[in-house]
Amino acid sequence: MKNSAVERDVALARAIPKAELHIHIEGSLEPELIFALAQRNGVKLPYDSVQALRTAYAFTDLQSFLDIYYAGASVLLQEADFYDMAWAYFLRAQADHVIHAELFFDPQTHTARGVPMATVIQGLSRACADAKAQLGISAALILCFLRHLSEEDAFATLEAALPYREHFIGVGLDSSELGHPPEKFQRVFARCRELGLRAVAHAGEEGPAEYIWQAIDGLQVQRIDHGVACLEDPLLMAELAYTRLPLTVCPLSNLKLCVVKDLAEHPLKKMLDAGLCVTVNSDDPAYFGGYLNANFEQTVRALALSEADVVQLARNSFEASFVTDAERAAMRQTLERALAEATA
Ligand code: ADE
Ligand code: ZN
Repeated sequence: MKNSAVERDVALARAIPKAELHIHIEGSLEPELIFALAQRNGVKLPYDSVQALRTAYAFTDLQSFLDIYYAGASVLLQEADFYDMAWAYFLRAQADHVIHAELFFDPQTHTARGVPMATVIQGLSRACADAKAQLGISAALILCFLRHLSEEDAFATLEAALPYREHFIGVGLDSSELGHPPEKFQRVFARCRELGLRAVAHAGEEGPAEYIWQAIDGLQVQRIDHGVACLEDPLLMAELAYTRLPLTVCPLSNLKLCVVKDLAEHPLKKMLDAGLCVTVNSDDPAYFGGYLNANFEQTVRALALSEADVVQLARNSFEASFVTDAERAAMRQTLERALAEATA
């Protein structure tokens, strides 16, 4: 028999307006779109079929995923490819009642293949503008530096992106975490702050709590991406609870990349109960088995999250968004209205 309280909380989580703050747009490339773009651009893939590609999605850790993720991104060549990828994501986001999305993109993955920065940013930016105009989703871009590359490379990437400064709101740090601590990028993040860019960083996904401290103190980030390693360090937990520095957690990603063995062991509920500003996100939904609502649904079930937890997660998503106070107030009001309707 179904547990009706859980079913009610799942339905609520699916229906209410939310913000998504941790989505790598290249990680939204579904196998079908990878094949369609490969054909459109004459790119040869090392897989015979969509099914063969999907079968390869059996990851043991972050690196085993990143190898396939970068290979998948190799089909992106023209501005229209970047547009089509982001547009496909926005349609999925709309279905999940996402009303605000902040999208990560990895320019170095593309510029290293000879794709101009303008092609990447203009394609994504046009999709963001259309998401607002046609779907009512406000969207912004966050440029991520690949941490397995040098800080010098990150500086060159920033320089190349500056002519398109108005198209992105901030910078992030992603790719292989272990052995590439945040402190490696201290100078480039300082420069980004001078430029008025927001700053976030992946930290404590596979790496230790020490990397989260480095992101906070050294990079002065305004959000931590993942950050699940914070549970190792009581002092860090206290600091995060006190400052409410947000953490963008991605439960299905953590499961698929073997950060947790089982969703029932995921620390999200402990983080919420400790008063952290934790949010739920999809990370790389085409690779990890689901978009935002799938993350909510499976997490609510696995951790028996309450209605109050679900509401807190949605409120946190707006608290953590990089928007103006007026925009945040409007999003909060949209949420509160939806909650009043859903619980009437
Ligand atoms: N790039 C795309 N997904 C990522 C993840 N989960 N961690 C680090 N870098 C990434
Ligand atoms: Zn990520």
